[in-house]
Amino acid sequence: MCGIVGYIGNKKAAPILIEGLKRLEYRGYDSAGIAVLDSNRVHLVKAKGRVVELQKKLSWDLGGNLGIAHTRWATHGEPSEKNAHPHTDCDGRVFVCHNGIIENYKLLKEGLILRGHIFKSDTDTEVLAHLIEENLRYGDEAFSRALKKIKGTYGLAVIIKSRPNKIFAARNSSPLVIGVGKDENIVASDASAILGRTRDVIYLNDGEIAIITKDDVKLQSLKVQKFNSSKRPQILKVAERKEKLDFNLDDAQKSGFPHFMLKEIFEQPESLANSLRGRIIKNNSLAKLGGLESVREQLKSIERLIITGCGTAYLAGVVGKLMIEELCGIPCEAELASELRYRNFFPEKRNLAMVAVSQSGETADTLAVLRRAKGKSINGMTGSKNDMLTLGVVNVVGSTIARETDAGVYNHAGPEIGVASTKAFTSQLIILALIALFLGRERGTISPKMGKQIAEEIEVLPKMIKQILKQSDQIKNIAEEYKNFNNFLYIGRKYNFPVAFEGALKLKEISYIHAEGYGAGEMKHGPIAMIDENFPTVAIVPEDSVYEKMISNLEEIKARRGNIIAITTEGNDKISYIAKNWLYIPKTIEILTPILSVIPLQLFAYYMGTLRGCDVDKPRNLAKSVTVE
Ligand code: AGP
Repeated sequence: MCGIVGYIGNKKAAPILIEGLKRLEYRGYDSAGIAVLDSNRVHLVKAKGRVVELQKKLSWDLGGNLGIAHTRWATHGEPSEKNAHPHTDCDGRVFVCHNGIIENYKLLKEGLILRGHIFKSDTDTEVLAHLIEENLRYGDEAFSRALKKIKGTYGLAVIIKSRPNKIFAARNSSPLVIGVGKDENIVASDASAILGRTRDVIYLNDGEIAIITKDDVKLQSLKVQKFNSSKRPQILKVAERKEKLDFNLDDAQKSGFPHFMLKEIFEQPESLANSLRGRIIKNNSLAKLGGLESVREQLKSIERLIITGCGTAYLAGVVGKLMIEELCGIPCEAELASELRYRNFFPEKRNLAMVAVSQSGETADTLAVLRRAKGKSINGMTGSKNDMLTLGVVNVVGSTIARETDAGVYNHAGPEIGVASTKAFTSQLIILALIALFLGRERGTISPKMGKQIAEEIEVLPKMIKQILKQSDQIKNIAEEYKNFNNFLYIGRKYNFPVAFEGALKLKEISYIHAEGYGAGEMKHGPIAMIDENFPTVAIVPEDSVYEKMISNLEEIKARRGNIIAITTEGNDKISYIAKNWLYIPKTIEILTPILSVIPLQLFAYYMGTLRGCDVDKPRNLAKSVTVE
């Protein structure tokens, strides 16, 4: 998710653009840039880091009343000044701000380079600037002609030196809204950048283009536009599209949700789709992970895999371990980085690889383990003699862990603002599932038929999550019923064993209630002593290979007057004989159930926290990224 803002009107553009970027900074903040057209000169200024770094580079009297600006959340290309938007064509006549992913950019870039274009950045976005450059002879149509070649998602704001009184905007999957003001118009990736200047807005729909002047907005539908034909682009009526913004800045940044945490829980169908985008080749049932290409051969021969991380990231690693052992036949350990960093885990053999899982890419303990695996001694603990292969599963592009691992896969889950890891966790799980598919197909432990089945099941997960989220009111009612309980047990088995711990962690860190995750098989070895009517159990009990075992655990709990909240498979009506409350997840293959079973647990923790008056986005004593030991 990046932040885009464009301004055209009677006032100086730069201050308005910077104010807009500051309001959009929650969407991405690794670099920022601005392009302002002043007479026939464009001032292009970029900076790595937050918007304030860009502001420091701007001269106060930057003229020009037309401009676009961008605050970046990197997906392709490290965070840097050269990769910051706006991106330009060869001669600095076209300026592009983009939010989204251009899936076919590599092919387009090859063709453009062959046709003599010189690229300045590593981003996917820059290809669009050069495509527009190739179509400048078509005047206003240059933008739409270039867009026709793009596959992928975009929210765009573009200015062209030779079209000095216009901003070109377009939307495909990444939201874009136009603020209609008095002698001025603003375009932005969300309304937070527009509030304060106008409340009259037009939301662009997918496949629409807008040509924006200071006193007019022309809407066109890209879909029906035919070129070199008499058929002119379909002009859409603007008047019918105007809406009134009726919310404040805070609401806008949370897209109308009361908290970032809830917004990010509900974002998971989209964030999971972004994590999957372009990474499954269904016809030969392969996972396409560009970030592992350079180590493909080494991965074929690894004999042992260590997955490490902290907190939720570690628990994702435990699920990943089970997936990889089951699908790839590789011995795999999931280790808490805060423990592993003080142990000698180096093999006598060379063929060991490590996967560091981290949303922020900055967690101190995870980084310390990684550095020891790369041979560095840390706090008196020697580093590995044989330089281990290290991979990262990281959400923040260009973060320290991402830069220090040999290879890896970015989550592309977008910035996670809430301290509790929600969409990052499901993204980590899906990336680890893709890595298991990648390894299994490479090593021949997954047949094409089985790979196809896994790929098909993975592809429908975003839709399944949408289905689960429809139960949010029931979950809120259940939280209402249990909000005064002060102890919870979470139990699961096999793939949902780590999910029990993740569910408990969510409840602990959001509502400060004591909650324990436990393997259900361990009940008789101690935990069942705690059970009575004051000690409810959350049980993850999908209809899978250990379902009957789980049911017998639940019968033991019920026999001791323990209340049960069950997460089970849709259609399982027998659960009502044992559980006091139940929630459903759609049927999927067993190894993917954690991606679904965690969703109700996230919502339960959220509602328990809000009902108990906790600051769910910034829980007490916690930081989003633990960069100290
Ligand atoms: C999870 O909800 C917590 N915020 C915390 O456990 C987090 O997962 C852990 O600190 C690891 O962070 P990382 O993914 O950024 O490395």
